[in-house]
Amino acid sequence: MHLLSMTDLTAGEIRELIRHAVAMKGQGCLSLLAGRSLGLVFERPSLRTRVSFEVAMNQLGGHSLYLSPEEIGLGHREAVGDVGAVLSRYVHGMVARVRSQPSLHLLAQHSSVPVINGLSDEEHPCQALSDLLTIYEKKGSTDGLVLTYVGDGNNVAHSLLLAGCLMGMEVRLASPREYEVFPTVVAKARELASHNGGKVMLTEDPQEAAENADVLYTDVWYSMGHEEERDVRRKVFAPYQVNAALMARARANAIFMHNLPAHRGEEVTDEVIDGPGSVVLDQAENRLHMQKAILAKLLR
Ligand code: CP
Ligand code: NVA
Repeated sequence: MHLLSMTDLTAGEIRELIRHAVAMKGQGCLSLLAGRSLGLVFERPSLRTRVSFEVAMNQLGGHSLYLSPEEIGLGHREAVGDVGAVLSRYVHGMVARVRSQPSLHLLAQHSSVPVINGLSDEEHPCQALSDLLTIYEKKGSTDGLVLTYVGDGNNVAHSLLLAGCLMGMEVRLASPREYEVFPTVVAKARELASHNGGKVMLTEDPQEAAENADVLYTDVWYSMGHEEERDVRRKVFAPYQVNAALMARARANAIFMHNLPAHRGEEVTDEVIDGPGSVVLDQAENRLHMQKAILAKLLR
């Protein structure tokens, strides 16, 4: 199977991944994937995704190869489908960080081994899965929690929304007009919420969304590939900064989450990201534990 979107997994499979990640966290190195290889096809830079997958593969007894944009030239040096078909003859799975969701689907369509989305313009499912693990650890359960995302309706927001709805959470999204999550993703999220006991709330008002939230989450105002919109976006998103005043709206024991990298002083203040409610480093660490569970499920 491929993991291209959060919707590729059922609620039961996600709970199983969380259980397995928690179990493997205490087990260190295992030999579940001895002799297996993972190709990392990256069109954009990465710290957490690349390192956590490489270390995860190593801790499971397997091997990984990082293929930089220059080496692969996805769609330039070689057609995306050909890259998928050829790599499938060498490796047992691929993690792909691509510019567009359609090229991810094309890669998967031509690959005979599992393809894992390591971030596209539309989704970041591995991030959302490890975030569920972090929420589970911090709150004891994900059931019925209020998860509020404030900021750009981007790849991270899409996967988080879908993940929260699959887990029966109340997901609130506060974004400026024209920077909201895709309507197609909202429709899918509402459908998932209705089956799993979740709820979706969309607003332009960050204060309203933060009221009594259990989790306050944000991401950068301009993602990779949108850097030239930096100045416009800084103005539009200024009211969406997660600062002490916004955190004060949430529950007293609310946690602050950010997938990182962060642009400190923009979407979040130092006071919040370095504050007692911040779990951003646990989130980053949990990327490793969740990648191990994902790899064990897909590559075994
Ligand atoms: N959160 C995340 O995916 O970080 P990287 O871009 O560094 O991989
Ligand atoms: N939304 C960000 C996430 C980085 C991990 C981006 O796409 O650049």
